[in-house]
Amino acid sequence: MAKLPRSLCLPSLVLLSLFSLAISTRERVPTPPLPILPLPSYTQLKWQQREIIMFLHFGVNTFTDSEWGTGHEDPAIFDPVSLDANQWVSAAVDAGISLMILTAKHHDGFCLWPSKYTDHSVESSRWKGGKGDVVREFVDAAKARGVDAGLYLSPWDRHERRYGDTLEYNEYYLAQLQELLTKYGSVREIWFDGAKGKNAPNMTYYFTEWFSMVRELQSSINIFSDAGPDVRWIGNENGSAGTTCWATINSTAIAIGEAGIEGYLNTGDPRGTDYLPAECDVSIRKGWFWHKSQFPKKLSELLQIYYDSVGRNCVLLLNVPPNTAGLLSETDVQRLKELRNALDTIFSVNLAEKCSVKASSRRGGKDGGFGPENVLDSDHLWTYWAPGDEGEGEEDHWIEMRGASGGLRFNVVRIQEAVGLGQRIKRHEIYVDGKRVARGTTVGYKRLHRLEGGVVHGSVVRVRITASKGLPLVSSIGLHLDPFWRPKDGNRLS
Ligand SMILES: *[C@@H]1O[C@H](CO)[C@@H](O)[C@H](O)[C@H]1NC(C)=O
Ligand SMILES: *[C@@H]1O[C@H](CO)[C@@H](O)[C@H](O)[C@H]1NC(C)=O
Ligand SMILES: *[C@@H]1O[C@H](CO)[C@@H](O)[C@H](O)[C@H]1NC(C)=O
Repeated sequence: MAKLPRSLCLPSLVLLSLFSLAISTRERVPTPPLPILPLPSYTQLKWQQREIIMFLHFGVNTFTDSEWGTGHEDPAIFDPVSLDANQWVSAAVDAGISLMILTAKHHDGFCLWPSKYTDHSVESSRWKGGKGDVVREFVDAAKARGVDAGLYLSPWDRHERRYGDTLEYNEYYLAQLQELLTKYGSVREIWFDGAKGKNAPNMTYYFTEWFSMVRELQSSINIFSDAGPDVRWIGNENGSAGTTCWATINSTAIAIGEAGIEGYLNTGDPRGTDYLPAECDVSIRKGWFWHKSQFPKKLSELLQIYYDSVGRNCVLLLNVPPNTAGLLSETDVQRLKELRNALDTIFSVNLAEKCSVKASSRRGGKDGGFGPENVLDSDHLWTYWAPGDEGEGEEDHWIEMRGASGGLRFNVVRIQEAVGLGQRIKRHEIYVDGKRVARGTTVGYKRLHRLEGGVVHGSVVRVRITASKGLPLVSSIGLHLDPFWRPKDGNRLS
């Protein structure tokens, strides 16, 4: 081999050794910790980030002033003369809502689309001379604004004669499911309601066939039923999750339309083998359908519901029913706007962002990439603070925020877990200048504490994780001021 001139050789050697140094440093980049099963699917993660979904109960009940129709309604009564699905979608967009779910068929069996398999539908109504299709107008309006569409198809059907004949009805139901999931583009959530009257004929639903068909026809859909398989029910209809709320649960211990273990749906199960986050369905009014005599809930009630659902690791499914004209009532639209403004007022400012932050330990040391500063960035899933690997039983992990100059003034603490690696936190506490101001159990995707004592002034906020499955992974922390919060006792906001 010819000897290289000295002048060429030295720089190449330097480069070569720098290169190998780079390689060896790269090899030592600390890796994320192992996940703790079960994990969410991609579509479940996307679903959870929506936070609020709009539900629209609409049909013959809107015109008969009832909640559960009998199935004997004359389809002619359905005549929403001013129906404008664009108005529904605008209200959702203004409220920051990215998915809307329409009752394509409720228990009365009346179909909002012209189904080939029954004439108990818009085809027999006065609306648009029987030529209309509410599902079509809904999905088109949503698509035009970049909003996703979901559909509800009631299993219990009080009109259809086949109901009660297990084979025939399941075939009928599957046929309608195929219509809805092939003719209307992408559907992101399908809602299988477990509700059924006490005296309804006894029959088995072929859930396995239904779910398989749904998966076959729609790739990015989440299937809701009391018991999943993607999204579970929270167990009540007032928008209230358990203060302990695991996304994990044993699907074998829950069944559609059955009560199951008391409180199990509401709290989930730390040992649950299935990842099945809960949806909290509640109506903006008393009823699910529009009634002239009813009014939307107060802003303070809606905020309470938000804290009790989204703030407890769930998604809020908020029903806003179209009225007899086919529009969302102005009072409801206004209330939705107020809710969005209130949430923006509370959460758009995070006092923690101006704090210096430190933690009990960090995975991979100082430059490991898992430092506490990760809880202050805008990524609430994939950048997180991870403590260092301590020995078994070493469970006092903490993260501390210190105000830059003088005091912090807040009454809401937000904590989020990197749930992409599994829900872990079992118990946590919050201290301000050494005094405990809140404590709780699970965190999950999002946990919100409205401080019982009202607004606190302080300079050092410490979040302690006192029990978790494996290492806790905290993806975000927020300190917020909620001017709408009026605790019963304690100091109030002036
Ligand atoms: C309904 O049918 C199921 C399955 O055949 C049976 O186990 C159940 O006891 C029946 N319930 C009633 C109320 O008849
Ligand atoms: C919600 O409903 C459940 C079940 O009916 C009840 O136990 C709970 O107290 C209710 N919560 C609120 C906040 O109304
Ligand atoms: C759920 O399943 C796990 C694992 O099999 C088990 O340890 C736990 O006790 C189950 N929970 C309930 C409520 O049955």
